[in-house]
Amino acid sequence: MRIIFIGPPGAGKGTQCKRLAMHLAIPHISTGEMLRETKRPTADATSGDCVSALGRVVAGYIDGGRLAPDYLVMRLITKRLADPDCQAGCLFDGFPRTVNQAVMLDDFLSNKLWQVDLVLNLVADEEALIGRLLKRAMIEDRVDDSAETIAARLRVFHTQTAPVLDHYADRGIIHSIDAMESPETMFAKILACLPV
Ligand code: AP5
Ligand code: MG
Repeated sequence: MRIIFIGPPGAGKGTQCKRLAMHLAIPHISTGEMLRETKRPTADATSGDCVSALGRVVAGYIDGGRLAPDYLVMRLITKRLADPDCQAGCLFDGFPRTVNQAVMLDDFLSNKLWQVDLVLNLVADEEALIGRLLKRAMIEDRVDDSAETIAARLRVFHTQTAPVLDHYADRGIIHSIDAMESPETMFAKILACLPV
């Protein structure tokens, strides 16, 4: 089973994917996490800890709340989908995030005779999302959880990611989930949407 989670920053994509990945025993693929991973310093024998050239390029996009380029995201995704644990299905957290990514994902999946089975659209009130992310900023170290960058991420969601829903609209596979409910209630509603 292949399930896409779409929702604005802070809607709970990561929280719900973690639970559902355990429940279905399929991998949770977060492009945000994969991109953040490229920014992490790695031990380098000659010069000590360093961030790769790719990591520096990625930081230029994600730390400011802008989307990373489609070609780069697709390179990470196609490499990950080739792994043995992805053959039976996976959860896409925050991917595809542009219509172009959705078209490229369709091409990739159809070559393998795979398909997207469900799109979960997490719907949330913006003021509440800003509150959640500012609260998270006090606990976790995400550079993009500042008030200014949260606003930029929300704008990008509306202009570039919300149109991805139109891409899937005529397939009858989109289910909207109220992301203002508790994580437990959201999860129960997600389980109820799963194809049998
Ligand atoms: P990404 O990592 O995907 O971040 P995001 O979409 O901005 O969303 P978040 O991870 O902040 O929120 P979430 O929906 O996962 O919510 P969470 O469960 O954490 O992307 C980061 C950046 O990477 C992008 O801005 C872009 O630059 C780049 N990027 C990523 N994918 C890309 C792509 N495909 N193409 C190009 N660029 C890409 O919950 C948030 C908080 O709320 C937590 O503290 C949580 O505990 C709390 N919470 C969760 N659920 C609830 C609830 N029901 N009630 C109350 N609190 C809750
Ligand atoms: Mg997340």
